Amino acid sequence: MPVPYIRHASPDDEEALGRLDRDSWSPLHAVQPRPQPPYEPFFNERFGPPDHLVAELGGRIVGYVRLAYPTSLACNAHVRQIQGLAVAEEARGAGVGRALLRAVQDESRRQGARRITLRVLGHNTPARRLYESEGFVVEGVLPEEFYLDGRYVDDVLMGRSL
Ligand SMILES: CC(C)(COP(=O)(O)OP(=O)(O)OC[C@H]1O[C@@H](n2cnc3c(N)ncnc32)[C@H](O)[C@@H]1OP(=O)(O)O)[C@@H](O)C(=O)NCCC(=O)NCCS
Repeated sequence: MPVPYIRHASPDDEEALGRLDRDSWSPLHAVQPRPQPPYEPFFNERFGPPDHLVAELGGRIVGYVRLAYPTSLACNAHVRQIQGLAVAEEARGAGVGRALLRAVQDESRRQGARRITLRVLGHNTPARRLYESEGFVVEGVLPEEFYLDGRYVDDVLMGRSL
């Protein structure tokens, strides 16, 4: 199986990442409504290229992960939070998600973080299995936090030490 190449994002990735994000939209993972034109830019004031790692296969971007601080507090600066992870549908099941998750943990360690956390919807089985298999554990559940696609869905808080 080809090994994905993981690198930091660059401003030139705007279009490819915006398209990937829109094409992979699903109520399985998204809490925002399906994007409609005119589309918001992928990079913005809060999240720029340095906050993203991208995965390439055959020179094409097939996935990304967004890494952020959970808050702007100095006393919380030892923690990083994954605030977005997506793999293009046609590239799923080939280890791209796992490669991105490992890379983002390495990047967090490189930045000196001690912990990494994330939030995942209770019904998102593929993502939950992936996170569990990489050592993340459930640290909290907000029951029925979201009403999506006609039903209430839990918000699951996961994390691990680095
Ligand atoms: C979740 C997601 C990133 C996984 O990406 P991927 O490249 O397909 O994942 P990988 O091929 O690296 O799979 C790694 C592990 O994830 C789990 N997994 C992946 N797809 C799965 C599925 N459909 N059902 C159950 N487990 C699954 C498995 O544990 C798998 O390990 P295995 O191959 O040894 O069984 C991808 O499905 C995706 O982009 N989903 C939509 C966006 C999303 O849900 N993001 C997470 C938001 S919190």
